[in-house]
Amino acid sequence: MMKPRKIKDGIYWVGAVDWDRRMFDDLIPLPDGTSYNAYLIQGSEKTVLIDTVDPDMSHVLLSRLEQLGVERIDYVIANHAEQDHSGTLPQVLEKYPKAQVVCTPKCKGMLVDMLLTPEDRVLAVDDGATLALGDRTLEFIHAPWVHWPETMLTYLQEDKILFSCDFLGSHLATTDLYVTDEGRTYEAAKRYYAEIMMPFRKIIEKNLKKMQEYEISLIAPSHGPLYGRPEFILEAYRDWVLGDPKNIVVLPYISMHGTTRVMVDYLVDALIEKGVTVEKFNLATTDIGKLAMSLVDAATIVIGSPTVLAGAHPNVVYAAYLANALRPKTKFVSIIGSYGWGGKMVKQLAGMISNLKVEILDPVVIKGSPRDVDFADLDKLATTIAEKHATLGD
Ligand code: FEO
Repeated sequence: MMKPRKIKDGIYWVGAVDWDRRMFDDLIPLPDGTSYNAYLIQGSEKTVLIDTVDPDMSHVLLSRLEQLGVERIDYVIANHAEQDHSGTLPQVLEKYPKAQVVCTPKCKGMLVDMLLTPEDRVLAVDDGATLALGDRTLEFIHAPWVHWPETMLTYLQEDKILFSCDFLGSHLATTDLYVTDEGRTYEAAKRYYAEIMMPFRKIIEKNLKKMQEYEISLIAPSHGPLYGRPEFILEAYRDWVLGDPKNIVVLPYISMHGTTRVMVDYLVDALIEKGVTVEKFNLATTDIGKLAMSLVDAATIVIGSPTVLAGAHPNVVYAAYLANALRPKTKFVSIIGSYGWGGKMVKQLAGMISNLKVEILDPVVIKGSPRDVDFADLDKLATTIAEKHATLGD
């Protein structure tokens, strides 16, 4: 039997903590697990469930509802159609036959297609629509592309609670209902932002502005602990989304026979001497989520790669593809590495980062092992980067 956790009278957390999950979408590493948050709100007339949980943990949600003695649910708010939140909807609708699903018009179509939810059980609501529960009122805030096109947020007016869905969340399994360790949550939320939200930075910016219209006393996201101090996460997002890129070089690299590593190490030292922070990632072993986090703030990416079969090493191709897809606010890119007999690595990698609005700084790609002239070019690259970084924020 799983116990619900009380937030305040008539409002309960009824979600599931997934301590063991280590990958999301078979793509995103989850070093700290995650949670699927669902909330029950009992108004004087209507009872509402906000989101469900991943289908693997449906028994946890149903058990918590049972523990609460919930006999009737009038509405299930589906803020987001992705299965980690909607996946238990079929069981909830079966168990509570009077319940209607409330979501955006786009989400309705997705739930019907993906979960085969009966259309007549879904009520589509407009942006700004409200739902009276008696003594409590829910307001729906459409937030498309945070991070799917159908997403909305739900605001509980009387209690000033924002149910923010994936927005502002963190992949973090913890027994803490609320954030108690802001440093740990900051890391998890930044990783989440980098992997999930960063590609939609411009839209997130609009949503952050929209949030200013609301008085928020508590943010209850779909993943991770709740924010009793909303300003903590809103401030972090403002920095990640709106802040100038920082004096940081992200340097993902691969070295097959050690030559590229010599160049990488030389460049790192040259950059350190010039006061530039470097975050170096060996792509043979790195946690790709850490690399994504570094891209949130870095002004420059320098890719280090040997040449394999006339192109970049496949791990480097993957990292370049990922950086391009995540669309960080990076301003400068360069490439360093070596080749044995030829290749088109620079052209190939430059063609792969077309989403990034960056200036390409002269690459240093050499034949064989580096000579004095090549080290001089690396020094020149470090000087250029330091000069470019000195203009950040101008
Ligand atoms: Fe947590 Fe987009 O689902």
